[in-house]
Amino acid sequence: RAYSHITSEARGPVGLITLNRPKALNALSPELVAELSHAAVAFDADEAIGALVLTGAGEKAFAAGADIKTMSSKGYMDMYKSQLFKEMDQIAQLRKPIIAAVNGFALGGGCELAMCCDFILAAGEITAPHPTHPSLTPHSPLTHPSLTPHSPQYHFSPLTSHPVSPAPNTAKFGQPEIKLGTIPGLGGTQRFARALGKSRAMELVLTGDLMSAEEALQRGLVSRVVPAASLLDDAIATATKIAGYSQPIVAIAKTCVNAAFESSLAEGLKLERHLFYSTFATEDQSIGMKAFLEKATPEFKHQ
Ligand code: HXC
Repeated sequence: RAYSHITSEARGPVGLITLNRPKALNALSPELVAELSHAAVAFDADEAIGALVLTGAGEKAFAAGADIKTMSSKGYMDMYKSQLFKEMDQIAQLRKPIIAAVNGFALGGGCELAMCCDFILAAGEITAPHPTHPSLTPHSPLTHPSLTPHSPQYHFSPLTSHPVSPAPNTAKFGQPEIKLGTIPGLGGTQRFARALGKSRAMELVLTGDLMSAEEALQRGLVSRVVPAASLLDDAIATATKIAGYSQPIVAIAKTCVNAAFESSLAEGLKLERHLFYSTFATEDQSIGMKAFLEKATPEFKHQ
């Protein structure tokens, strides 16, 4: 299927989807969301693909939210009947991992879309070395000997509520719907609250203020902050690493971590234990452990 609001391409074992309406800051129109879920579901079903990466085209935005032009004239029954953006649920229900590589604005539905993904890498200025690909970590502003927290490149006070980023491509997160006379509708209130805790989630939802990549990192919304120039390479390298493991085992691991947000600790522990035992029904568990004992690299068969 040909897409006009996104691009979709395989990068080795990684399915890369790029939101591609840069002039509208990749705003989520109904057509874009339909294409996005179609492409994501197609990669999920493709045995050659082990993990997905989702990013936004252009320097300025991952996605600046639902398309306000499309929504502005709608009434309640229009929204109710069309179930606007219902396809978005499919992103959160993919079996394969999907990594959000967030460059620039992730606002409203854009922030919610990033939070539907399994983890978020954010473009920003405080960098930590890539755990397995040091070459993906260009010089880090914080470790450069000439740079102190007071030097001009160090712009973010992680806890300020009004971070102003100097670079358009650094990630900024927020749920500014309150400014439009509406509220988040794709999980923002729920996933923000779980990720940030009640107080900061409430403040951001009620004020519409934005949060820097560095604050998002500090609060655990994102897994790592990466220089904008290497964000996509890092996301693809990370996805490639995951894609090198057994697909069914990766899916089980994802299911278990997600269960931590859906169940009591006792239920989550029980699920984990049963699914841990179940991995011993796969060929890939034998392959992985045998390879370890033989000091060889496992070649997983995804079964
Ligand atoms: C439609 C959008 C858009 C959006 C930006 N654009 N965001 N179009 N829907 N959400 C368009 C602008 O109209 C403009 O088009 C172009 O993108 C560039 O944007 P500017 O505003 O000129 O850029 P800038 O001054 O740099 O400001 C960037 C910005 C601002 C701070 C991100 O664009 C902004 O506040 N956008 C809206 C963010 C927002 O409120 N999102 C939540 C939406 S509600 P033209 O044609 O003028 O050049 C939502 C609900 C989800 O997401 C729940 C659904 C169920």
